[in-house]
Amino acid sequence: MARILLTGGAGFIGSHTAVALLGRGHDVVLADNFSNASRSVPARLKDITGVDCPVHEVDIRNTQAMQAVLAGGAFDAVIHFAALKAVGESEANPLLYFDVNVAGTLSLLTAMRHAGIGRIVFSSSATVYGAPEHCPIAEAAPLHATNIYGRTKLIMEDMIGDLVRTGMLSTAFLLRYFNPVGAHPSGLIGEDPRGVPANLMPYLCQVAAGQRDCLTVFGDDYPTPDGTGVRDYLHVMDLAEAHCAAVEVALGTYGTHAVNLGTGTGYSVLDLLHTFERATGLAIPYRIGPRRPGDAPSCYADPTLAKAMLGWTAKRTLHDMCQDSWHWQSLSAKARQAAEHGGSQAPTTAGAQLLA
Ligand code: NAD
Ligand code: WQD
Repeated sequence: MARILLTGGAGFIGSHTAVALLGRGHDVVLADNFSNASRSVPARLKDITGVDCPVHEVDIRNTQAMQAVLAGGAFDAVIHFAALKAVGESEANPLLYFDVNVAGTLSLLTAMRHAGIGRIVFSSSATVYGAPEHCPIAEAAPLHATNIYGRTKLIMEDMIGDLVRTGMLSTAFLLRYFNPVGAHPSGLIGEDPRGVPANLMPYLCQVAAGQRDCLTVFGDDYPTPDGTGVRDYLHVMDLAEAHCAAVEVALGTYGTHAVNLGTGTGYSVLDLLHTFERATGLAIPYRIGPRRPGDAPSCYADPTLAKAMLGWTAKRTLHDMCQDSWHWQSLSAKARQAAEHGGSQAPTTAGAQLLA
């Protein structure tokens, strides 16, 4: 069993990965500055797993503090989730993204060198493929940044790869996630975006919960079967299990490995919307709007390498993803209402009608 530090471990993907790692008997320590995570996450992890995970409240850019975390930890590997991830924000504030994502990763790598830790599993993204020329996308496809967020992921991939090549690190997995959605089936942890959600599933959930009136579908004139954008949605628990596989394989291998994590199947915006309706029994109001600048028509993975290298394939269906996202959303809406009204109430469905 391994001892693993999760930077950004209180976040959406980090918290689910913590559950999966603990379930496989690994020791998990979280490092997070809680800039995009609730302080209730560690307690919720304990509710789910029965394990009290040590948590360091720390900013990865603080190299000295990271050295202190790593030096005493006897870690076998680091899984590096901590980053900022909003495409629009990255274009509005590039310096912040270079600072947190790039300088933060440099700081972490410096602290890892100090502690003699040579294995890293890194959260990369399908965004490194830019506007893909064709789908499914294999790892050898051309890499291209179409925004600052994507640029930071490419720089971080290169930095890590160079450190493996020059011998400072022994092993790196660059995991290129497609579109993670869903939540732990307990409904205790999930994605909780601050402000207006930029991504489809959280927006859909907020419409279903009555927090927003209507979903705008960004374009229905793409060259796809129904004209709406096609993506490779992946259940976050499948993604979490892929991290377990990557860490376990990393312990016995060397070199840099870029690996796509997706299901290999593309679904359109309307596929997702109608599956959500069937999974929840709610009718979701929507309207067709203009295309969102920068969106690719289709983006889905060739997941062959993940199966070959990690022995991993995604198991959960689009229906599971919708059901678990809604379970999490409705439980957190209920908790919010209880906090606001001093009592417990069922989540409102003002934006969505119950299907007959
Ligand atoms: P998230 O925002 O939920 O998690 C990131 C965590 O990092 C948060 O808990 C946040 O508080 C923490 N953090 C941010 N800056 C920090 C700092 N300076 N020091 C310490 N902690 C810091 O995001 P997520 O969806 O869980 O994403 C995790 C990783 O996966 C990110 O690197 C993201 O770029 C990548 N990724 C996410 C998606 C997606 O759609 N969610 C897709 C591809 C790649
Ligand atoms: C999915 C589809 C939209 C919202 C983004 C980042 C990417 C990665 C994952 C981190 C598209 C459509 C969306 C809405 C809509 N993140 N849509 N109405 O753009 O594939 O990827 O998140 O690495 O880097 O770019 O995901 O969920 O925003 O969009 O019609 O209100 O839903 O046009 O076709 P995307 P998304």
